[in-house]
Amino acid sequence: MYRFIASCAVLKGAHYTYTSEPPKHENLVIMNHASKQLLLSYLRDRNTGTADFVRYSNRLLRLLLEECIGQEPYLESIRQSPTGSEYTHRSLKHDGNYCVVVILRAGLSLMPEVYNIIPGVYAGFILIQRDESGVEKLPKFFYSKFPSKLSEMRILLVDPMLATGGSSIRSIEELLKAGAKEENITFVNLLSCDEGIRNFHAAYPNIKIVTAEIDPELNKEKYIIPGLGDFGDRYFGTD
Ligand code: PRP
Ligand code: URA
Repeated sequence: MYRFIASCAVLKGAHYTYTSEPPKHENLVIMNHASKQLLLSYLRDRNTGTADFVRYSNRLLRLLLEECIGQEPYLESIRQSPTGSEYTHRSLKHDGNYCVVVILRAGLSLMPEVYNIIPGVYAGFILIQRDESGVEKLPKFFYSKFPSKLSEMRILLVDPMLATGGSSIRSIEELLKAGAKEENITFVNLLSCDEGIRNFHAAYPNIKIVTAEIDPELNKEKYIIPGLGDFGDRYFGTD
C-alpha cells in the first residue's frame, strides 16, 4: 500500500510515499469515491488480465466522467416531483453543445461512457503517440479531426494517462489552433503524476484537469510510478 503522506516521492521498501504535498491548483480536481482505491488496485496489479482490466477501467472511468460532468456549469429552475412538491431542478447549461475529443489510442476507452452520460455528444480525434525510442518520450502528432463549430463548444479532452504531459499539452495546442476556447476545455484523465500535472498547468494554468489519482513520480522510461503500466496495451490487449 502507498499513501500520499506528505512533491517528492520516496521509495520505502516497495512502497511509495510523498515527502511533501501533492500538487494543488485551482484548476485541479481529484476524484473522490469510496470505490476508487479498490478499482485502482485491480488496475495496478500486473496479474490483472485484459478482460478484467477493461471491466475495472470502465467502472472507474464511469465514476470519473460523472465527477467531471458534476463540475460543469448548470442552470436551476423550479419543477414539481410526482408528489406535487416543488424542488430546485438542475440541468447542464451547455446541454447539446458538448464535444468529446479523444487522444488516440488509449482515450478511446472513455468513449462508451461519454456516450452513455452525454447523449448527442459531438466527437473529435487527435492521433498522438509518444516516441518511445527517445529519452524524453516526446509526443509525435499524426492527425486531427474536429466538428466545425468547435469554437462554441464545451470540450472534454480525454486520455487515461498523464505522464510527462507532452501528449496532452500537444493536444491542447491542436485544439486551440482549431478555434477551441481555453476556458471551454476540461482534460479528463484517469491516472496522472506530479510532474505531468505541473508541466500541464505551467503551459495551461486555466484549463481544468479532472483526474482520479495523482501518483508521485516518473521512472527513467517516463512511466508513471507506481502506475499501472501501458494503459493502451493493457486495455486493448497489445504489447
Ligand atoms: C500514452 C497515454 C497518453 C500518453 C501519456 O499514449 O495514453 O496519450 O502516453 O504520456 P505523456 O504524458 O508522457 O505524453 P501512447 O503514446 O503510449 O499511445 P497509446 O494511446 O497508443 O497507448
Ligand atoms: N503511458 C502509459 O500508458 N502509461 C504510463 O505510465 C506513461 C505513459
